[in-house]
Amino acid sequence: MSVEMLQVCRGHLPEIAALEAVCFPEPWSEGALELFLEDRAVAFAAVEGTAVLGYIGMLLAPGEGQILNLAVLPQARRRGIAKGLVARLIAEAQARGLESLSLEVRVSNAPAIGLYESFGFLKAGLRKHFYRYPAEDALVMVKKLSPDI
Ligand SMILES: CC(C)(COP(=O)(O)OP(=O)(O)OC[C@H]1O[C@@H](n2cnc3c(N)ncnc32)[C@H](O)[C@@H]1OP(=O)(O)O)[C@@H](O)C(=O)NCCC(=O)NCCS
Repeated sequence: MSVEMLQVCRGHLPEIAALEAVCFPEPWSEGALELFLEDRAVAFAAVEGTAVLGYIGMLLAPGEGQILNLAVLPQARRRGIAKGLVARLIAEAQARGLESLSLEVRVSNAPAIGLYESFGFLKAGLRKHFYRYPAEDALVMVKKLSPDI
């Protein structure tokens, strides 16, 4: 069965909240995830059949996007799903004419850092004590976008 990257709608939110709970120590609730239904944000779900295997979301500001969340179910990892989600988000950012994308990631999260580097995100700084549970610094990564020609 193939995996489709679909813009997140309300019907995806319960499964995304469950995914958050599996993947993060401080998961976003279904209520918090409603942000991604607003005009100031956009998110994509990786859907296989009717199952949500992963998702990515960004907050929109004039000219830039901030990636807030990226997660893939543990049993669906290493299948290229995160790669597909990041590629879909970059295409969306380019279609919207954004000039850059940024994100924060735990300094110990080598899989995510490797993934973002493979898409041309560069290390742009550190935010000390950014995370709790466990306490950790955040690496800030930025990708400049070129206009979609
Ligand atoms: C990070 C995460 C989203 C990757 O999802 P995934 O679907 O398994 O990733 P992909 O299969 O698309 O892998 C893409 C690339 O990421 C890197 N990567 C992914 N998992 C990795 C791992 N365990 N170790 C090293 N590199 C890894 C590799 O560069 C990989 O490319 P390759 O397979 O060609 O080597 C997933 O591990 C996850 O949900 N982690 C918990 C939540 C999280 O950390 N989110 C990021 C917060 S910023």
